Amino acid sequence: MTNLTTIIMAAGKGTRMKSTRPKVLQPLAGKPLLQHVLTTAKKLGSQKNIIIYGFEGRQVKDAFANESIDWVEQAEQLGTGHAVQMALPVLPTDGKSLILSGDVPLIGVDTLEKLSNTDSRFAMLTINIANPFGLGRIVRKDGKVIAIVEEKDATDTQKQISEINSGVYCVDNAILHNYLKNLNNNNAQGEYYLTDIVKMAVDDGIEIATVSPTYQFEIEGVNDRIQLANLERTWQAHQAENLMKQGVHIIDPSRFDLRGTLTVGRDVEIDINVIIEGDCTFGDNVKIGAGCVIKNSHIASGTVVQPYSLFDNAVVGEQNQIGTFSRLRPNAVTAKDVHIGNFVELKNTQMADGAKANHLAYLGDSTVGERTNIGAGTITANYDGVNKFKTTIGNDVSVGSNVVLVAPVTLGDKVTVGAGSTITKDVAEDKLVVARGRQTVIDGWVRPVKEKK
Ligand code: UD1
Ligand code: CA
Repeated sequence: MTNLTTIIMAAGKGTRMKSTRPKVLQPLAGKPLLQHVLTTAKKLGSQKNIIIYGFEGRQVKDAFANESIDWVEQAEQLGTGHAVQMALPVLPTDGKSLILSGDVPLIGVDTLEKLSNTDSRFAMLTINIANPFGLGRIVRKDGKVIAIVEEKDATDTQKQISEINSGVYCVDNAILHNYLKNLNNNNAQGEYYLTDIVKMAVDDGIEIATVSPTYQFEIEGVNDRIQLANLERTWQAHQAENLMKQGVHIIDPSRFDLRGTLTVGRDVEIDINVIIEGDCTFGDNVKIGAGCVIKNSHIASGTVVQPYSLFDNAVVGEQNQIGTFSRLRPNAVTAKDVHIGNFVELKNTQMADGAKANHLAYLGDSTVGERTNIGAGTITANYDGVNKFKTTIGNDVSVGSNVVLVAPVTLGDKVTVGAGSTITKDVAEDKLVVARGRQTVIDGWVRPVKEKK
């Protein structure tokens, strides 16, 4: 939408969180509450994003140092109307503003699109709920909105109203410039209520449009850690449902966590207690075992990941067997039919088609050729305490158990390395190399015995 500004109210301290961090920095699905709101506003095409901060402003600003934001301080929290007043000096005089709350994280793009596309100069998001206690009620006359009344100022009849104000609005900037300066705090809470501009606008003949959110969770606010945990589960259940609709077999949606985005093929299966973070893709028939943590990684079709494996910025090819207990660190890249077994760690290592490292190995800064087998207990010694060096291993190499490959070092194609070797020099192709002390039997040696007193 053109000429759209977003004003995010984020000055509240969040006392009930009992935290040194401001409330809007508490995480939901792995991201600060405020980040969710900002990302959504940006998806909508908001050109200018104004954030009203108060408590621990430095922490909030630091957390969003990379974003382009108009920061506005509200030193004292005198009410929502006062908060938006603080934004007036930086608010354009034309166009519209979306007014959002930093502690209402799951507001959706679709809902905000509906809200910003009404014909009205003043649109608000309302919903009928079973227990409206504590929230502002929408007062209507002949079907039209005439005011919002806060719980503490409401008459007994008004308290019966089940349509509530979600605190999300899309308003012409001209309206904000015209009316906010006229607010007073003559009410039960002694606050400057943003909601009072509704009546002012209505008195001037402006018609208020109302829109309802697609999902109730979109307007749920977070005030304490119990609400935070509940909203997290609601969101995870929603994400799990979306994935199941796309054909993913999630074995237990109540034990599923996606902290980011997941793109999937057909017949993906995800076992319990898997955590998926950042941007991930799983191809057709990928199976993820219980307890895996997968971050910013791509897993191609047919790959099976056994339980308790950790991925971080890894790219895994088709038909791989990974785990249990494998660790794929940044720039671990595997081609087709690769096997990575238990307690094997890869870092900045490329494994070609059919390569295997099945047990207890560390491969860092290395390339491993096609069909090469890395024996149990093998490591690349890639670090001299200051510099990192590369290990290059050819095709069809057989590295025995417990081998140390001291980088920089190259093993040619079809090399065989004897178990227990420490390889410090390059080995030409087809060679057998053994680099360890010969076994010697010492004759006449007697094991010491304890003397009896
Ligand atoms: C407000 C609405 C109420 C609505 C409810 C929905 C008013 C007067 N009332 O209630 O009709 O049902 O939201 O949740 O607007 N904030 C500031 N500075 C302040 C005060 C608040 O930045 O001085 C921020 C808070 O951090 C929060 C948001 O504004 O993100 C809403 O404030 P909150 O106190 O939760 O809402 P109420 O005023 O109780
Ligand atoms: Ca309040």
